[in-house]
Amino acid sequence: MARKRLIAGNWKMHKTDSEAGESAVNLKALLANIKDIDILICPAFTSLYSLASIFRKTSIMLGAQNMHFEKEGAFTGEISAPMLRDIGVAYVILGHSERRHIFNEDDNMINRKVTAALAAGIAPILCIGETSEQRNRNETLDVLESQLTRCLKDVSKANAKKLIIAYEPVWAIGTGKNATPEQAEDIHRFIRTIIENLYDRNTAEIIRILYGGSVKQFNAKALLDKPDIDGALVGGASLEPAVFAEIVGMARIK
Ligand code: PGA
Repeated sequence: MARKRLIAGNWKMHKTDSEAGESAVNLKALLANIKDIDILICPAFTSLYSLASIFRKTSIMLGAQNMHFEKEGAFTGEISAPMLRDIGVAYVILGHSERRHIFNEDDNMINRKVTAALAAGIAPILCIGETSEQRNRNETLDVLESQLTRCLKDVSKANAKKLIIAYEPVWAIGTGKNATPEQAEDIHRFIRTIIENLYDRNTAEIIRILYGGSVKQFNAKALLDKPDIDGALVGGASLEPAVFAEIVGMARIK
């Protein structure tokens, strides 16, 4: 079964709502009719509502960059999965390394968020990845296996099939450094084996595994050509609509 490819733009803490709106209008003109690739934009919370309206009746989907694990309550400054779902958010990035390292999110908290997103009908994009220190100590595979196992604790097979996994080596995020397509493919295959061990082969074949970390218009094609790389989570290069559209275009030709 061929997995539908997904190109996701993570805008991080960039763009005011006016700037986001302008980019969204441009993206709509560039990408509105593409059906063979899933296209996802993850703006700041402040632009989710206005982008939902701009992307209505297009195939461009909307994702959040984070959420709280409780449905509601006294959690000043937080946003819940049902709140996101209600305005048309289909995906949420969880466990991004910036959340893990700057905001001290651990696998246990990410697991609670994964469970809460699934319960609300939002597909988590679960990010995993090793730091350069872990890589230098040859711990990459152990780190990835442990992150996956802990973040997916008590997630049923039926729910696991709705997940997206993003392999984002921390040393490649925002640094201009890249895993080579071969290195990335090896890791993606390893991740698929872990999923098979946790669930079964069918689930491992269904789950899409994205690569993230300095994906640019000049390196995307070689990464996306690999059989186990099902798409990309694009940070910096997603901020410019024409560049993001170029990367989407590369996912269309295999
Ligand atoms: P980058 O970010 O493409 O700017 O490296 C990727 C990410 O953090 O998702």
